Amino acid sequence: MTASNKKRIGVLTSGGDAPGMNAAIRAVVRAGIYYGYDVFGIENGYSGLLAGDISPMTLRSVSEIINRGGTILKTSRSPEFNTPEGVNRGAEMARLFKLDGLVVIGGDGSFRGARDLAKKGIPVSCIPGTIDNDISCTDYTIGYDTALNTVKDAIDRIKDTAYSHERCSIIEVMGRGAGYIALNCAIAGGAEACVLPEKPLDIDEDVIKPIIDGRNRGKDHFIIVAAEGVGKTDEIAAEIKAKVGITPTVSILGYIQRGGSPTVRDRVTGSLMGVKAVELLHSGNINQVVASHSGQIIGLPIDEALAMTKTISEYEILASTILSL
Ligand code: F6P
Repeated sequence: MTASNKKRIGVLTSGGDAPGMNAAIRAVVRAGIYYGYDVFGIENGYSGLLAGDISPMTLRSVSEIINRGGTILKTSRSPEFNTPEGVNRGAEMARLFKLDGLVVIGGDGSFRGARDLAKKGIPVSCIPGTIDNDISCTDYTIGYDTALNTVKDAIDRIKDTAYSHERCSIIEVMGRGAGYIALNCAIAGGAEACVLPEKPLDIDEDVIKPIIDGRNRGKDHFIIVAAEGVGKTDEIAAEIKAKVGITPTVSILGYIQRGGSPTVRDRVTGSLMGVKAVELLHSGNINQVVASHSGQIIGLPIDEALAMTKTISEYEILASTILSL
């Protein structure tokens, strides 16, 4: 590597991998080089920052990755970084590698880490990447659309069997404490019931009644989508068996939802957010989170972004109930 006087940007992915993260990495590298920076990839998230796993990236080191799920930089959840000593060391490492800016791609836990680094004088720019869509400052997080489509495909397949054998299937989906994946896949998959962390669960009203009423209206197979954040999948299965007299099958989709080739939406959003993250740093608008608002890609100050809240609307919950009749 030849010495260079150019300014330097580092990029890392942190938290759960999400399809479209590679598109964002590619965009950060290419936009960084376009605007005159040397760009460095940091492996394994904040763990790699602490360990100094930092190496130069080139236009070609991000070739052929836009179509790949996961993250070529690898990722981690770093308990060590999550301490004041860890943050101090992270800031020291950023200075040691002469990073003039750091792009963090991840969820709000990763953004809190970025904010801590910003408070130590390291300029940061954050990109929302998580399948959960649970980052309040943005309408959309990279990876969500791919996960939705993966879950929709799984529901369609399970439904073929539920239909053919006249069965009841409970499908547990990811989303941590949020029900965005569950609600939208219940709507897209034509589920009979949907159990969300955003709505207090009444198993009789929300699950048993729709099955019994549906049976009385002529339904002979049932799909129940349960968000993992509710934590009651087994209890729901037991209640259906006891009160309806059918033994449901339970499918926990797990990591199938996290991987896979990103959809067009995740490739394009990851790309546009990656370019924006670099432009924010380049224009001196440091310590911001890139967000999607009504179709626009904007930057929001990180403290403001972390203080925001969002939730699923009552209208969407009502609509999913109406549609399941
Ligand atoms: O945040 C993404 C996510 O897949 C959540 O939906 C899930 O609760 C969590 O990560 C699982 O985390 P881990 O990678 O530690 O298994």
